Amino acid sequence: MTDNKQKKTPFFTKLKQYGQKNVAPFDVPGHKLGKVPNDLLRYTGPKIYELDSNSPIGLDHLNKPVGVIKESEALMAEACNAEKAYFITNGTTIGILAMIMTVCKAKDKILLPRNVHKSVINGLILSGAIPVFMKPNIDTDLGIANGVSLETVQEAIEENPDAKAIFVINPTYFGVISDLKKIAEIAHQNDMSVVVDEAHGAQFYFSEKLPYSAMDAGCDISALSMHKTAGSFTQSSVILCQGERVDHHRLRASLNMLQSTSPSSLLLASLDVARKTMYFQGAKRIEKVLQLAKETRDKLNQIPGIQTFDKDYFINRGSFGFDETKLIIRVSDLGLSGFEVYQMMRKIANVQLELAESHIVLAVITIGTTKQHLDKLVSGFKKLSEKYYKQRDMLEKIEFEYQFPEPYTRPREAYHAPNKVVTLDDAIGEIAAEQVMIYPPGIPILIPGEIISESVINEIKFYMRKGSALQSDLDDNHLRVVDKEIWIKWEGDLDEF
Ligand SMILES: Cc1ncc(COP(=O)(O)O)c(C=O)c1O
Repeated sequence: MTDNKQKKTPFFTKLKQYGQKNVAPFDVPGHKLGKVPNDLLRYTGPKIYELDSNSPIGLDHLNKPVGVIKESEALMAEACNAEKAYFITNGTTIGILAMIMTVCKAKDKILLPRNVHKSVINGLILSGAIPVFMKPNIDTDLGIANGVSLETVQEAIEENPDAKAIFVINPTYFGVISDLKKIAEIAHQNDMSVVVDEAHGAQFYFSEKLPYSAMDAGCDISALSMHKTAGSFTQSSVILCQGERVDHHRLRASLNMLQSTSPSSLLLASLDVARKTMYFQGAKRIEKVLQLAKETRDKLNQIPGIQTFDKDYFINRGSFGFDETKLIIRVSDLGLSGFEVYQMMRKIANVQLELAESHIVLAVITIGTTKQHLDKLVSGFKKLSEKYYKQRDMLEKIEFEYQFPEPYTRPREAYHAPNKVVTLDDAIGEIAAEQVMIYPPGIPILIPGEIISESVINEIKFYMRKGSALQSDLDDNHLRVVDKEIWIKWEGDLDEF
């Protein structure tokens, strides 16, 4: 019975019918279902434009669904074993903002790992919540931050019994898993909500061969990027929730505050059909790509200077699990940085990788990945190894301390404080008023409210030297910092922030 229901795609079906009805459209969008010729329309054909409508009669409203969007969201919730699903057309970025604004009012405490995506920091600025950062496990050999241990969570809860919520990244960008079931259990015993960034974990809902999902672990609310790993269009995401702790009025209000009033029907339709495909084909196809991923790991491990990592590696280093659809490839033994390899693989092998860090690159495998793709990846790394292995000095060792900067004040406070622009060198000892990160992965090196240490400045300079995509609100070599001279808060009562 359930299976039959999951064959339906209520929103996509209605949208398709609307485009074929020969309606005279006096509403927006102004291309009027594809009547304005342009290069994109000529390239793709008119169908995409016929599916680009903005809430005509019968197509429901994302900001208060009562019709086909509601039905499609209910099917998504059912497929993911959740009580309720909310479609999002501005990415998990918006999902995270909305989740934080739902669980935290200004000055409520939230426990979270420091290696969060930049949207989480923006969520803190918008909500005014007070972050209590938990230190993630650091893998100094790979140069990445992983999940948080249960002990760290337990300790953070004991020290902050008044916190309203715990925020967990599961999986991390690199696929590392935390013990979500236990985290949910402890959090609930202490009357805290569990909010999950599942941006990289949409596939978990459709295969038992993968780690369990946030909903299966008993978490309260989670945002997942269907577009990253489950086949929908870029920017289409979902919030899933269950249980009594989620205030649906507040969630709806937050989403409506953040989302466009003209959500893309193409993105909504792509969520509908991606859910159907994953529901019926996900498990089988994920099993197949997991096998291909294993074979690829074995082949890559035989290439001199190349190393890959499986679940055992992470479990032996204290993590709870690992999503083996993420292929972490260590390249530093070639004497090359991940940043260099990221560029070279595109040039020499026509392979586009997901991201680079100093010692590794990341390849993301989904049900769209083919054997031919993986063969190309292996042959690219063979070429690199033939050319560089033992031909170059070993990679410059980075002097990261893996100490996150000390927070001085809430991100919101620092963001709104009087500020000034200083050079990187002059920023040492100041309080950051902006975020700095490399993108991807978009994990901030520095966030508003933190005291800027010399080691953070060295880290920023390292990334600049390596030519990685450093992002801040300003040009290179400058930072926006709080102007302490005219900031009343400076030397004020910290309890007040
Ligand atoms: C860990 C993490 N969370 C959230 C996001 C935001 O997701 P989206 O791109 O769907 O807005 C990203 C994006 O890369 C991410 O890596």
